Amino acid sequence: MEAYKDKAWQRSMKLRLDINGMMADFVGEHGLNMADIEKNSAQYIKAAESMAAKRANMKWRELPHNQAEVVARIKTVAEKVRSEYDAFVVLGIGGSALGPIAVQQALSHMRYNELSRERRGGPRLYVEDNVDPERMASLLDVIDVEKTMFNVVTKSGGTSETMSQLLYITRILKDKLGDKWSEHVIATTDEVKGNLIKIAKADGLETFYVPDGVGGRFSELCPVGLIAAAVCGIDIEELLAGAAYMDELCSEPDYRSNMAYMAAICETEAMKKGCNISVMMPYADSLKYIADWYAQLWAESLGKRTDNGGSVVHTGQTPVKALGVTDQHSQVQLYTEGPFDKVITFIGVDKYRSEVTIPHSFDDIADVAFLSGHSFNELIKSEQMATEYAVTRSGHMNKTITLPVVNPFTIGELLYFFEIQTAYAGELLNINAFDQPGVEEGKNATYALLGKHGYDEKRRELDSAKPKKAEYIF
Ligand code: PA5
Repeated sequence: MEAYKDKAWQRSMKLRLDINGMMADFVGEHGLNMADIEKNSAQYIKAAESMAAKRANMKWRELPHNQAEVVARIKTVAEKVRSEYDAFVVLGIGGSALGPIAVQQALSHMRYNELSRERRGGPRLYVEDNVDPERMASLLDVIDVEKTMFNVVTKSGGTSETMSQLLYITRILKDKLGDKWSEHVIATTDEVKGNLIKIAKADGLETFYVPDGVGGRFSELCPVGLIAAAVCGIDIEELLAGAAYMDELCSEPDYRSNMAYMAAICETEAMKKGCNISVMMPYADSLKYIADWYAQLWAESLGKRTDNGGSVVHTGQTPVKALGVTDQHSQVQLYTEGPFDKVITFIGVDKYRSEVTIPHSFDDIADVAFLSGHSFNELIKSEQMATEYAVTRSGHMNKTITLPVVNPFTIGELLYFFEIQTAYAGELLNINAFDQPGVEEGKNATYALLGKHGYDEKRRELDSAKPKKAEYIF
């Protein structure tokens, strides 16, 4: 039996949430009081009931439980890609790219693409999540399209950036391979809606579906993220088992024993105290891109103009990405002495996957020699503890999430934890955390500027926008 199926092993892999640094007992006047939180318990119980009632509509919540068939198919396709291709290129943006990047960076070798083919065991991975022409052109300098599998990922099946990339790659593939071009493209999209599904059907592309009701930023645990992960040799069943375990841990309606709910309460209570910034600071390079993925999840879900009743609220918390220890030398000055407008979430790891000792060399220089004999593991942990201490001492709210180790199970837990936290925060803020009208507005304006059929009205609106004043341009 796989270790991740063993209950005792699962418990040993449980994520921990430490909110001491959020509390006034530790940070003083800018912190929260448990007594004040308790005063709102009726509201929290109601919100938990509402979340439970809405669960059936939150299709992403079922992803850890209902994908046995699709996982089997992904594994078959991934095996073929791993043995036959030199590069795997994801074409996608936003929720269709940030999850694949985050999971692969967390779970593959840190220098995955630079390893030998033999050590990698599969193709190099590129996630092309922009339309910068220089970056697009440079891709062709590092891949041989005839030995590359492309995975075009778009839930809506129409996003300009992704469709432009598909057009670009398809032309190249057709020129080189003729009719065989379609063997080099896997489509991941909605089963019914959008243009990609039309193309996929017409050209017989290998196709996976983004389940109905699973929004872009909640889609990492469906084929959107699972295909790239499996192609990189990541155990996607363990990833989903970790998410399922977190679902179990967070199914308790009482916020006192539901870590994701408690985290959401901390954030929304902090927002009431003027904390409009959410800093995510992992102390592990492997988790650096989890902060990127979280930034989209938190920003797009909570950044809303109106609440569910239609009142204008302009709510949300601006996510800021930081990396420990690197950003101690860039941002921590602000976190300790700057305004009380942020919550800092540290992410720590109990046991890093490598152990590196700091050797002896300059024993005659005491101020350098004190480091020798310690390890990088001790150093990074001490620096995390020291920063947590300094931030707490300065009165700024902070909390810490700790992973026992970085593996597919704990990453599944972590992603699902943040998704549930976000859904609870949306419920507490009384907003729709699952739409993104602001993103759609930008998409529509792009369509209009590029002359898409049906966007004439939007084009007229853009053309009649107030002209810029020359005096403000220097
Ligand atoms: O979360 C979202 O819905 C968005 O950020 C999308 O992920 C992003 O706009 C890309 O959309 P699509 O996957 O439809 O191409």
